[in-house]
Amino acid sequence: MLRTINNNAKTIDKFLKNYFKKQGHSQLLTPMKYGVLFGGKKIRSTIIFNMSELFNLRKKDVINICGAVECIHSYSLIHDDLPCMDNDNLRRGKPASHIKFGESTAILSGNSLLTIAFEMITEKNYGIKLNKKILILNRLAEYVGHTGIAGGQFLDLSYEKKKVSISKVIEMQKKKTGKLFEFCCLAPAIISGANNKTIKEMRLIGQELGLLFQITDDLLDIKGNKKDTGKQVKKDKKRGKSTIVDLLGYNKTLEFTFKLKKMIIKRLRKYKKKDDKLIRTINFIIDRSF
Ligand code: IPE
Ligand code: IPE
Ligand code: MG
Ligand code: MG
Ligand code: MG
Repeated sequence: MLRTINNNAKTIDKFLKNYFKKQGHSQLLTPMKYGVLFGGKKIRSTIIFNMSELFNLRKKDVINICGAVECIHSYSLIHDDLPCMDNDNLRRGKPASHIKFGESTAILSGNSLLTIAFEMITEKNYGIKLNKKILILNRLAEYVGHTGIAGGQFLDLSYEKKKVSISKVIEMQKKKTGKLFEFCCLAPAIISGANNKTIKEMRLIGQELGLLFQITDDLLDIKGNKKDTGKQVKKDKKRGKSTIVDLLGYNKTLEFTFKLKKMIIKRLRKYKKKDDKLIRTINFIIDRSF
């Protein structure tokens, strides 16, 4: 499984490198590349590839979507590490962008990774139908903004050192992390022309996958180590982050992840026959050490 994930990551890194080569010159390109290339599991791309197989799409039908998602994800991490947010100095085993390049460059290269994602999807060479591109862009813009990642990050910060209910924490995590996973499951469905019922189901699967991913990230902050995760650990408690682990404790949270996994697999069963790859990805999400 790990080999598949690494191979997918290499495919995306290659695509991104080529894409950056075609860009005009700017001094922000170096911090942009630092933020998105050379590291990161690119797990969202693996999910897009898994979903694409479900809908009989080819890699070239979704590669620009993968690139765009990875740029947006990396943008969100660059900003997440800033002193005004989580104030972290280590990312993917290297100094966080603001440590390496300074705060203003980190902010601007993050902004540029966000906008280049939209460029990537609208690129002429990306051969999906225009009406599908527009639908995808519309969703992406919504999911990354105030009702999605940015909104979730706002809630994450405003819940620090507060007593917050589990449903509020779940809602926050479904926004800050779930929305991008939702997009990863939704985009292949849109491209393949799936019906509304399937699209709705894919969205739910994506949200739950994202929640599962965030909960395991929160667990790794407790039981993981700096070497494997490439980031400082045991920081969530220090910052007073409201997480499900904080509310339920470690073991109950593990049980929660198993239930969530079962729910996702049940939803998948209704829709497909050869879902083994996606299930392997889900198992990786739960069992990972990084
Ligand atoms: C970390 O995401 C932030 C969360 C949403 C939990 P990843 O664990 O996917 O980070 P990289 O890209 O592999 O470094
Ligand atoms: C980040 O969550 C979620 C984002 C959408 C950026 P975390 O703050 O828990 O991610 P890490 O632990 O810093 O990677
Ligand atoms: Mg954060
Ligand atoms: Mg963080
Ligand atoms: Mg974390």
